[in-house]
Amino acid sequence: MVTVLRVFRRHPQQRRMPSAFWDTLQRPRGPPVGETCQVARTAVEISAQFVTLEGMVEELENSMSEATFRHPVLSDGQALWQLAHASQVLDVNTSYAYLLWCRDFSGTSLIAEIDGVPAGFVTGYLRPDAPDTLMVWQVAVGADFQRRGLAATMLDELAARCGASYLETTITDDNAASNRLFTRFAARRDAGVERSALFTAELYPDAHDTEFLYRIGPIGQGLKTPEPELAETSS
Ligand SMILES: CC(C)(COP(=O)(O)OP(=O)(O)OC[C@H]1O[C@@H](n2cnc3c(N)ncnc32)[C@H](O)[C@@H]1OP(=O)(O)O)[C@@H](O)C(=O)NCCC(=O)NCCS
Repeated sequence: MVTVLRVFRRHPQQRRMPSAFWDTLQRPRGPPVGETCQVARTAVEISAQFVTLEGMVEELENSMSEATFRHPVLSDGQALWQLAHASQVLDVNTSYAYLLWCRDFSGTSLIAEIDGVPAGFVTGYLRPDAPDTLMVWQVAVGADFQRRGLAATMLDELAARCGASYLETTITDDNAASNRLFTRFAARRDAGVERSALFTAELYPDAHDTEFLYRIGPIGQGLKTPEPELAETSS
């Protein structure tokens, strides 16, 4: 199955200025005598800046691309490895490991493409001892596509497809992006988050920070608040 989603919903930081701001600019005011030119110039300058900003936002919105999500196939293994490698954050496993993943755990993994370019992936598996739990192993989004909701959408999509009741992942303390990604995933479902040290530093044969287990659930299948700008056009 191939699902197409418009994932580039407006980012919170791209919000337009509240109309109250424009009202303030346009409201007839009586500036103190002698300050007329200054006030007028400031208003024009600010107004021009926001016209430019609005133009930029519009340009961004017009350049929205569609992301498609699908389970990876063998030939995607190299893209997964490349994205992991480029992230400079993830533990990069052997290229063989990603090929193996694409063969044996494709059903619990996703690759996202934007305009045909691999833009991100999430790899996971159902825990053999707890098959209602989706363990998310790695998530990566290419630098050009970050902070547009792609990882969040991939997680939502994968959770929905797997139908798991719980989602687990491990996160190191210094990974703010990952921490935010998963706690927001839980919040969208009103789900609990249990955090505990899982792979502590002394367990590793090499230098590695402690990985904290995040167990999220029950996650149900519905989002608490529907994502307003995600229009699905399945094919
Ligand atoms: C973590 C990662 C996958 C996030 O991808 P993304 O597509 O940019 O994430 P999203 O846009 O869906 O953002 C999800 C949430 O995380 C927040 N977030 C994203 N990047 C962030 C950052 N660098 N710092 C803080 N918060 C961040 C977003 O603001 C959003 O929260 P919000 O809903 O409150 O706004 C991406 O930064 C990445 O590939 N990092 C390197 C690999 C990695 O660390 N993977 C996770 C461990 S497996």
